[in-house]
Amino acid sequence: SIDISKLRSTTGYITLDDGYSNTGSCQSDVTFIDGEKGILRYRGYPIEQIAQNSSFIEAAYLVIFGKLCNQQERDDFADLLSENAPLHQSMLKHFDGYGSNGQPMAILSAMVNSLTAYDPQVMHPEDENDLVYAAASLISKVRTIAAASHKTTIGEPIIYPRKDLKYVENFLHMMFSTPYSEYEPTPEVVRALNMFLVLHADHEQNCSTSTVRMVASSKANMFASASAGISALWGRLHGGANVAVIEMLQKIHDEGVDPSVFMNEVKDKESGRKLMGFGHRVYKNFDPRATILKDAAFDMLEKMNIEDPLLDVALKLEEVALQDDYFVERKLYPNVDFYSGIILRAIGIPLDMFTVMFAIGRMPGWIANWKEVHEDPKARIYRPRQVYQGEVDKLWVPRDQR
Ligand code: ACO
Repeated sequence: SIDISKLRSTTGYITLDDGYSNTGSCQSDVTFIDGEKGILRYRGYPIEQIAQNSSFIEAAYLVIFGKLCNQQERDDFADLLSENAPLHQSMLKHFDGYGSNGQPMAILSAMVNSLTAYDPQVMHPEDENDLVYAAASLISKVRTIAAASHKTTIGEPIIYPRKDLKYVENFLHMMFSTPYSEYEPTPEVVRALNMFLVLHADHEQNCSTSTVRMVASSKANMFASASAGISALWGRLHGGANVAVIEMLQKIHDEGVDPSVFMNEVKDKESGRKLMGFGHRVYKNFDPRATILKDAAFDMLEKMNIEDPLLDVALKLEEVALQDDYFVERKLYPNVDFYSGIILRAIGIPLDMFTVMFAIGRMPGWIANWKEVHEDPKARIYRPRQVYQGEVDKLWVPRDQR
């Protein structure tokens, strides 16, 4: 509870918006969401059309530069990505220090920040060319770092990127090839991973993107800001939910828990548990990304002839939740993380890489938001106020009198 008289005497009047539920922190041209109608658009284009037609690289270009690329722009951008895929030789030594207990998200965040040390020209981009270079370098290298962090944690040699492979295929190569065998992905795997990345490319002022803008507002460079975004994404209420969902589904499956009984636990506030992959700050009807991913998961498992028992558990939970007054009244529906893990599992991505995959996908959105802050001559440093609730007017007590 807030003591208003104390508040006036200490801070004056402050707008307190817990969790920024209704506070706009910026103006942006990147992504539009209508949470009541379940609409998501990147730069005005509906997510359904982008997911259907676009490669991740085209979507990244659209999100960052605000327009659909023509063939020449696409080819040039793809060339830049290819050139920038390898890591600096000295940087590869960092991986030796992590060993098999390294958390891929920790490695990713640290390495993305470290990139600045090996590529000082990204510190102060002076024109559009510098920005395109920095964006391509970051999008390309985050993928190389992600795959290398996986190889490090499983104790296998790092696999280098290949110039002849496209973005998604190159990632799969670095993840799953070994010095003795070349991994050949099926078209279903490439299509599904591409769609996963496209659907994660941006999502307006979520926790990690606001973090990127916050850091960018102090004039920190693109890579440092993205590294902060990765850390913010890690938490289980945000990108880390894609790990938490699979852990939850696995536990229900392994222990044979009745989904209705499980629901009672997540409705009980004392339990401290939630139905992971459900609920959203903005979507109050459905999350269009979840709808697309659910269909894609069915399609993929069928084409690959895979039976995943966790998909059945997820379907059952959704069915129970959608008939439960608790979820209906609070407008809680599956979010992007509820079905995405089923797809990642089918591709063969290990659980500790799930949030890393989200980070690779979200990189264009972070870059686009960083760019907006960077290019706005009137951008002010982010500096929210607080409502102070501590003691006031105390007198210092010498140590021997305490
Ligand atoms: N399970 C059970 N109850 C829930 C859930 C859930 N998943 N989500 C929200 N609620 C309840 C809250 O306890 C609250 O109940 P109350 O009104 O009785 O107090 C009510 O619904 C409103 O929820 P808030 O916590 O106010 O919602 P908020 O907008 O702050 O949080 C969030 C949104 C973090 C996504 C929340 O729904 C949640 O924790 N979901 C589970 C984690 C998750 O899936 N995160 C991924 C989100 S998508 C993304 O970041 C990529």
